[in-house]
Parts: sequence; structure tokens; C-alpha cells
Amino acid sequence: MDARDLLRSFRMAGSASGRLAARSAWRRRRTDTRDLVRHGPERARVPGAALDADPQAGGGTVRFTRSSLRIRVAVGGAVFCGWDGAGPEPSYALAGGGAGGGGCPAADTRAVLEPDKDGWRVVSERMTVLVSRQGTVEIRTPGGLLLRRELPPRWWDPVGRTESAGRRWVQRSETPADARVYGLGGRAAGPRLPAGGYRLWNTDPGGSFGPGDDPLYITMPVQLVVADAGCHLIFHDSTWDGQVTLRDGEEGAGSGHDRPGGCEVRMDGGPLRYWVIAGTPARILAGWTALTGRPALPPRWALGHQHSRWGFGSEQEVRRVAAGYREHGLPLSVLHLDIDHLDGNRVFTVDRRRFPDLPGMAAELAGQGVRLVSIVDPAVKAEPGVAAYDGGIAADAFVRDARGGRVRGVVWPGEAVFPDFTDPAARSWWGGLYAERLAQGFAGVWHDMNEPVSFAAFGDATLPRSARHVLEGRGGDHREAHNVYGLAMARAGYEGLRRLRPEQRPFLFSRSGWVGMQRYGGTWSGDVATGWEGLRASLALVLGLGLCGVPYSGPDVGGFTGTPSPELYLRWFQLGAYLPFFRTHSAIGAGRREPWEFGPEVLAHAREALAGRMRLLPYLETLSHIARGTGAPYVRPLWWGSPGDRALRECGDAFLLGDALLVAPVLEPGAVSRTVRLPRGRWYDTVTGAVHRGRGQVVLDAPPDRIPVLARAGSVLPVAGADGAVELEAWAPRQGRTGSGVVFTGDPEGWDAPRMERFVSRWVDGEVVVERDGGGEPGYRVRVRGAAS
Ligand code: GLC
Repeated sequence: MDARDLLRSFRMAGSASGRLAARSAWRRRRTDTRDLVRHGPERARVPGAALDADPQAGGGTVRFTRSSLRIRVAVGGAVFCGWDGAGPEPSYALAGGGAGGGGCPAADTRAVLEPDKDGWRVVSERMTVLVSRQGTVEIRTPGGLLLRRELPPRWWDPVGRTESAGRRWVQRSETPADARVYGLGGRAAGPRLPAGGYRLWNTDPGGSFGPGDDPLYITMPVQLVVADAGCHLIFHDSTWDGQVTLRDGEEGAGSGHDRPGGCEVRMDGGPLRYWVIAGTPARILAGWTALTGRPALPPRWALGHQHSRWGFGSEQEVRRVAAGYREHGLPLSVLHLDIDHLDGNRVFTVDRRRFPDLPGMAAELAGQGVRLVSIVDPAVKAEPGVAAYDGGIAADAFVRDARGGRVRGVVWPGEAVFPDFTDPAARSWWGGLYAERLAQGFAGVWHDMNEPVSFAAFGDATLPRSARHVLEGRGGDHREAHNVYGLAMARAGYEGLRRLRPEQRPFLFSRSGWVGMQRYGGTWSGDVATGWEGLRASLALVLGLGLCGVPYSGPDVGGFTGTPSPELYLRWFQLGAYLPFFRTHSAIGAGRREPWEFGPEVLAHAREALAGRMRLLPYLETLSHIARGTGAPYVRPLWWGSPGDRALRECGDAFLLGDALLVAPVLEPGAVSRTVRLPRGRWYDTVTGAVHRGRGQVVLDAPPDRIPVLARAGSVLPVAGADGAVELEAWAPRQGRTGSGVVFTGDPEGWDAPRMERFVSRWVDGEVVVERDGGGEPGYRVRVRGAAS
């Protein structure tokens, strides 16, 4: 028990729930002491010298004295490397069915393993893989520049035991001195990850989190590395607890003596295997989401403004909030009901005293264009008579310990049991329970507490590490299943909703998850602490997750805890209005988050921000289809189109929204202007029309009524005109140049394929003209902007 634990246990000891949490923590410790196989003696092992090599489709296998390395280039260009006989499957990350479900892309038979100077090489379209006789693997660009060097790994083999699952390993690597690393899931310290250690273990920080809290709810062994030589993504496909330690490189100022950057990946188990994808950021995300699944397309209404609170407490209050939005002339698309609408916090129930007619209220709100979304927690109160409990017992769906007893924990409803979402049968049973939510009138679901959390007065607030999981039939314990618990729950929910309501796209977002979670939906920041640091961290999370393939996310606008100052609330709201998932939310007992609660000035400016959001909806919808089709996130780092611009790699305080817009939120108190580093090109201030030239730094006005938003010269984007009809906004290209843009219009809620239209703009006789690509009238009203400058 460390000092933090001790503090936690003191704080909890006073209350009934605290006593439960203390009991649960002791129980958890007891179970693990009893059932967890101790690390016995171990022997370190390295691959040794190479013996020979065996070409196979897409690559081949190199045999070493004490291991082997399999290399396989997949169609599309991703390269797989697996040590010790590891293949790409089974894997929870790969698209097409998760572990054991297939989905590994076919081998690119053009790539073959062939002898090279000091070993072997595999040449593929996007990169060359060189394997040395000692087991070093180098990934180089087709032109020969080094992207990454993986040093020979090291394992710790359990002596006298044969199972390989819990075998620890470490893999060190080197990257160019100028390389910068992004990703590793949702990290508050990002988007550019500073040197240091990052744990891979999905964790609820408890209460709320600040910039120093790590890990958080979504960890992923995914790094996107940006360097002058080129960009690449590396994914170590093991779900086990681990640690990535990043090291910054140092350049030798032309002396030729650079100290490379790099990292060390240390895992408690799982196969030592990894994927590498190289290319431009756009190509990497396309390759990555081809491998792990394209992002689910949110229904159109999920791009509007959403409002939530833990503690609405009654139908009257929900109606009051909806009416407040209406009366203040503020558009609202969704209201979220948190656990306080449940009967004693029990999942899939309703407190009928406070919410006597949910379906009626849902229908009434739907008439006003407002959908309801419901929270769904995985923990089921361990109480006979509770439908989800009885059903789960009958389906044998709950996690058991090594002796066959059901693992118990403590969450909001009290003593609880946990569905084993790594069991296909449990997933299918659980998915069926969403029928109750649909019958209550909910249009979407919000998965929470699925790291999973079990309150504990000390130690790790989750299930015992020795808890057993089905793991798609292979069997294993919580050390392997923990990080994919939220991912597998998302799959259960998504597949359930698809079965129950096949004509509509599911709307699902989940606090925890892992590689591939975008297949089922999005996520949000979790309990970000209210404060300027939290505002900054919430942008870091969205950017980082987008680069890991999860494009739909956003923070609790205003912060989860306490009461933001009017200024902080407004700046958060203005940022949120440009993020895919735009939701105000707060904790029970925290201050209000409705825009009219912060005085008339904030209300007026929030109204502007909402109007701006409504105007951008056609663009956001277009971006949702682009994310679906190519994996490119809506929210992109400034270096997205120019990874060679080193200064941009450090910028975490502004972002690109699609290709057309650059958003520079205000992240500091008292600021009425701010500096922004611009990527190359010409940029227009969307409000003043002022022209700014990149690259380089500019100072922009940021008065309280808006945050600076710039448009890229030549972009053509769809917006909603004053009458709501889609119109094209065309930002003048430079004289003599052309511009372009795409518009996707799709089925708002169903599955029909979207329509894509391309437009081009050019100068004709001193005017900017917009046409369909290939010629012809655009078919939309066109507003040309910036032509005078
Ligand atoms: C967790 C969630 C938060 C929610 C609360 C109660 O803390 O992160 O969003 O309001 O649980 O359900």
C-alpha cells in the first residue's frame, strides 16, 4: 500500500461505500495471492545468431539459435514482424472479427525475403526491412533512409513451465534524432509525447484527472513517429500490461554525431509481434484503419450539440434543461441520462419514481429534435431479481475466478459482477439487453466504467489479475483481458444494436477501449478536471486518439468537476464547437453547465459558437465520411500535411479541422489574442478576411466572442446557409492557382452509401469560379470569400 493508497483508504473508510471498497480491495488481494501464478525462476534469452532463412509469401522466416523472426508484408503495405513463432492472429486489434476471427490482410506476394550484405532484406513498395544476423531489424524508406531500428529483443522465460502467455519481454528501438512521437492512446500529456514512461493499462484515475495523470482510460501500444526521413506507425500487438519509455534524440549540430531517439517497450506477456506502416500521415491512417477497421459512422444527429449531467435527477429537470435551450434560442441535438436515472444505479433499469414515463418523454423530446442517450455500465448488481443479474447467471456470462466462483467487485450499484465480454456467448447475451434501452426511447448508448472499474480502497481499482476470461475460447486471465475489456464491451453493444435495430447506425461511445475500438464508435475525455490545464489536456486527447485511428471524440465541455469560471467555460465551449463530439457534461455536485448559467455575455458568445457549429454541420458530416472511408481524423495536428515542418511537430495548441480549417482555441486565461504557427500556404481569417502567410508564426485576435479560425486558400467546403440549405464556401485560391473540395451527403441514420461530389475553383477574368470536377454548374449556392485580398 503506497501513500496514495493510504490516503484513498482513509477517505473512503467513513462511508458505507467506503467500507465496501475496502472489503473489495482486500478480497481482490486475497484472490490474487491465492490464484495468481507467481513468477518462478526465469532465464533471460536473446535470439542469438542467425542460422538460415526461409522465404514465404510476402516475406519469410529467419531462424536464430534461440528464436525465429517472421516477416510478412500485407497487401496495402503494412509489415508484420513476429518473434518466437508469433503470427498476426489471433488479435483483438485486427478488423474482421477480433481474436480468432480472421481479418489479417493477405500477403503481398511481390515481397520476398532475400539475402543481403549482413543478413536478409524484404523490399516492399513503402519500405525496406533489413534483418541482421544478430536480430536487429531496420525499417528504411524505399530511398534507404532509416525510419526505425529494432534491436534484438530479450525474453524472460519461466524455468520449468511451458506456457508462453505470461513470458515477459523487452524490445528497444532507435529512431532518428529529430523524431517525435504521438499516440499511445489517450494521453493528457500529448499530443507530442514528451520523453518518459507511459504505462499500458487502462485506468480510471478516480475522481478526475489533470495533465500529470497517466495512464488514463484508453492505452494503446501504438506510436505514430514523425521525422524528416518520413513518418511511420508501429503497433506492438500485445494486450498485456506494459510500459513504453520514450527517449528524445539529440542532434549533433552537423557533427554527424546524432544521438538517436527511441523507445523501450516492456510487456508482462503476450506475443512479441508488431506492425509497421510507413508513408504520409494520410496514408498511414488509411493503412492503419484498413488493418484495424474503419471508424463507425456516427448518425448525423451525433454531430450536433449534446448536453449531459450526472444528476439531472428527474424528468422535470430534463424537460427544464431542454426548454432552457429552446427558450434561449440554442440548438440542442442530444441529452444524455447518467446513472441517476437508473433504479439504484442498476444497469438496464429505470427509477420510475423520478422518471415515470421515459418513453413518453423521449417521444416528446424527439418531437423537438432532441435525442436521448443512455449510460450503460458493465457492472451488474449482484442481486437476484435484477433482470440483468438473473439473465447473466442463466447465460453463465459473468467473470469467474480460478476456482470457479464469480468475481465480485463494487461499483455504483454496490456489490456487482462483471460480464466477460471476451466470451462470444456473453457478448451476444449482453447485446440483447439493449432492447430494454431502445424500448425506453434511447437513441444511443454511452459505455462507462469499462476499464473495468471496481472501486478499491487501495491497489488497482479493477478486477483481480487472476480473474479468468474466455478470451474467444483460448482462455486466460485478467492480465491479458483487462485492456480489451472496454473494446469487447463496445463490440457487444454495437452488435446488439445492429441486431435489434438493423436499419439504423448504432451510436455508441465508450470511456475505455483499445486498438480497433473505432469499429464500434467513439469515445470522450472521461473525467477531465475543470481548469485551464484540463482544457489543454482535452485537446491533447482528441488529437492523440485521432492518430491512433479513433476520430470521434471530445471532452466534457466545461470540465467534469467543480465550477468553471465564465471565461474558462466559454473558451472550452468555443473549442468544443470544433471537435467531433461536442458535449457539455459534469459530475454530480458540480456546478451547472448550461450556457445561460454564466451570465448574458457568455450566453451570447456561446450562442455564436453554437451557430458556428450548426453552420459547419455539412462540413463535419463530410469529415465523418472521410474518416469512415480513409481513417483520416476530423481533428488533425498542424503537421498533418507537412510533417517535415519541425516547428509544427511541437504545436499542441491548435489543429486542423479537415483540410480546410485551422482552429486556434484560447487555452489561457485573460488572452484576447494568441500566436499561431501556420503550416505553409495562405490562410484567411474566417471572420475578418485578413490574409496570413505560412509558414511561420502570426498573432491573431481572439476576443471573447470567438476563437481564431482560419481557412486555407483554395478550399471549398460545404456549410449550412441561413435557410439551412447546403452551400459551398469557396476560399479564393492564390491568383493563377486552383482550389478544390469534396462534399459527402449521406443517409442521416441508415446505411445507404453516401454521395460524393468534387468541386474545383479557379480564377477566370479576375473572379473565382466554382465548378463540378469535370465541368458543370456546382448545383449549390456558392459564396466566394477572400477574393478581394
Ligand atoms: C464516471 C464517468 C462520468 C459519469 C460518472 C457517473 O465518472 O466518467 O462521465 O458522469 O461516472 O456515471
